[in-house]
Amino acid sequence: MARNLCNDWRIAEHSAEKWTYPIANTAATTMSSRLLAGVTDLEPSQHLQRLPEGVAPLRILVVDDEALVRKACCEITAGMGFVPLSAGDVPEALAVLQQRPVEMLLLDLKLPGGGGLKLLSVVKNLYPEIGVVMMTAFASVSSAVESMRIGAADYLAKPFALDELTSVLTRTSQRLHFDMESRQLRERLRTQTGLSGLIGTSPKMEEVYHILSKVAHSTLPVLILGESGTGKEMVARSIHMNGSNASNPFIPVDCGSLVPTLIESELFGYVKGAFTGANRAKEGLLAAADGGTVFLDEIGELPMDLQAKLLRALQEKEVRPVGATHAVPISARILAATNRDLSAMVVQGTFRKDLYFRLSVVNLKLPPLRDRRNDIPVLAAHFLERMHRENGTSHVFSEEAIRLMTEYDWPGNVRELENAIERACALSSGPVLHMADLPTQLQDFRAQRTQEARSSITHDEFNPAETSGPAPIVSIADMERQAILGTIRQLNGDKLMAAKLLGIGKTTLYRKLNEYSLAEKKSSASRA
Ligand SMILES: Nc1ncnc2c1ncn2[C@@H]1O[C@H](COP(=O)(O)OP(=O)(O)OP(=O)(O)O)[C@@H](O)[C@H]1O
Ligand SMILES: [Mg+2]
Repeated sequence: MARNLCNDWRIAEHSAEKWTYPIANTAATTMSSRLLAGVTDLEPSQHLQRLPEGVAPLRILVVDDEALVRKACCEITAGMGFVPLSAGDVPEALAVLQQRPVEMLLLDLKLPGGGGLKLLSVVKNLYPEIGVVMMTAFASVSSAVESMRIGAADYLAKPFALDELTSVLTRTSQRLHFDMESRQLRERLRTQTGLSGLIGTSPKMEEVYHILSKVAHSTLPVLILGESGTGKEMVARSIHMNGSNASNPFIPVDCGSLVPTLIESELFGYVKGAFTGANRAKEGLLAAADGGTVFLDEIGELPMDLQAKLLRALQEKEVRPVGATHAVPISARILAATNRDLSAMVVQGTFRKDLYFRLSVVNLKLPPLRDRRNDIPVLAAHFLERMHRENGTSHVFSEEAIRLMTEYDWPGNVRELENAIERACALSSGPVLHMADLPTQLQDFRAQRTQEARSSITHDEFNPAETSGPAPIVSIADMERQAILGTIRQLNGDKLMAAKLLGIGKTTLYRKLNEYSLAEKKSSASRA
């Protein structure tokens, strides 16, 4: 049974140099048995909860004015795999923090020279990423609450037992490792050095990276939602590739394109003779993923009977292949995606509520491209660059083309943008991609915009009720001139498009422009 360390501790014979820190782990572990004289029946190797192998050891600063407690805590933390440092008061602790990088702090609340709470506030201000565990006396539970409010990760009420200390430290260190990993991953996603290749730096994508970096290292199911072409499969791959099982398979299953019987045999497998044509047994994808990820795409299309089977498989972590009498264990992580409103389907009764809850432990909603327009030029440049790498083509966008792409709503999202750029590269006759090289839906969008702008001008000009004073009389020739020059201006000089939109041939347009410039020259000559 756990014993109260602070009461039972009798520090046994030790020499001064034994207290030199940091201490090598093995030496520290052997010393702990002699140190913990009051609990000598405990074998430290059995009772000290070691930190996980393979992660960099964390430095822990033990701050306590009682030398014996300080030294014993250092011994125990060293035995657990930490690198301990120690300080007896606030100024000493601050000096250590200035000199050495420290990841964790085991801090006594009652300290001379300012008190533990004051040190906690300073640490949380100067080094917010340090994980702080407070040690508080029973009498000061309110201070413990206060310390959690200031930012302590956890606290221990004195006197505490060995296993309480080790489990609080283990918990805090795991949380720190997790935070460090997700910070690093988020940074990689942001700077595009990661494996995912996700492009976008808009605040909406930052939110996606934030969640992605949190879930990548877990095995929780994630439900990825978003309109068609927003990158759901890409995000699923990214979660897999940035997780700890990246070397295991990633298996996408399109629940929308397979007939129900085929989905069943694909997902769960079958035994020889299960149905006509089953000449040999086939392992299901859920079992074949073996420690990897199964990505259930278009999960909203899964028929109700298969939803029930999938739910059972996920709950029981085993599948029964079609025709089999025995179940097979599964260890795959499940990611699912849909562009349908699953919660509405639950309400309508077309999607099982229990399966919905099981799949959507974490929801990741991908923003449509029109809600992150700032990312459009970056994505467009990325696709051009890819085209250059793959096909050796070398193109740049005209300013107008970029502007049009940024204004367009992209109902097909990133996929539509990607296709538009591929098409423009294939069709363009020169190195510059113009507006006219973009697909017809963009041309139509631009024409509609122009039309709207023109009719609003016309509306202002010909609606005397809304303008002050009587409308001026304008000759037909002047109206035509205004229409031609105004349209060209609105289209940023694109004369071919102007001719198309005005419904005149390009030769007529050039002839008219010629006439206007001659008239202009004449009138300036007569003014001179
Ligand atoms: N953030 C992004 N950065 C770079 N490319 C992206 C991004 N998002 C999507 N893409 C590209 O867009 C295309 C569509 O992505 P994906 O197939 O992942 O979308 P989806 O949401 O699964 O679409 P659907 O609903 O139609 O299945 C892919 O070619 C992908 O490479
Ligand atoms: Mg998809």
